[in-house]
Amino acid sequence: MEYKIEVLEKRDKYFYCTLGEFFSSPDVRKELPYLKDEYDRKWLVALDADGNVLGVGSYKLLKNGTAKMQSDYVFPNYRRQGIYSKIVDMRINMAKRDGAKRVQTVTMSQIVMDHLKEKNFKIVIQRSKYNTLELNL
Ligand SMILES: CC(C)(COP(=O)(O)OP(=O)(O)OC[C@H]1O[C@@H](n2cnc3c(N)ncnc32)[C@H](O)[C@@H]1OP(=O)(O)O)[C@@H](O)C(=O)NCCC(=O)NCCS
Repeated sequence: MEYKIEVLEKRDKYFYCTLGEFFSSPDVRKELPYLKDEYDRKWLVALDADGNVLGVGSYKLLKNGTAKMQSDYVFPNYRRQGIYSKIVDMRINMAKRDGAKRVQTVTMSQIVMDHLKEKNFKIVIQRSKYNTLELNL
């Protein structure tokens, strides 16, 4: 599967045309009930040659040096092809470039936990079903 990953930052027409369906889809909401946008997030978007969104993940750098990965989602037909893994790696590189001290995510997904542990993330907080995983840079 050929795809590219774009980093969207400006909330312009292209941003809403590209991500509008993702934000409003009831199917996405079922799997990402806390999905929201914040103006200080950057969105990494995997797109096929026709501009269809295959997967998404957001990035936000906090003042305390934590780079947060949130709202990670790959559309069902495109799962298990490494898209999420690629979006994670890109955000780790962005965090390093930004001088972040750590990369962090909160998840209840076992798939995400297993995968991030392979990338050396450690669980730092466990609260009911939610785990906070962190990679020190
Ligand atoms: C979790 C999710 C983002 C993974 O996306 P993906 O593009 O399919 O993931 P990748 O192909 O990059 O796979 C990453 C790893 O997870 C494993 N994996 C992916 N889907 C899996 C599944 N259904 N069962 C078991 N392992 C799975 C892959 O084998 C790969 O393993 P590796 O670490 O050994 O390489 C996707 O399943 C999804 O959108 N789920 C619903 C929303 C969600 O749970 N988001 C996470 C919120 S924190």
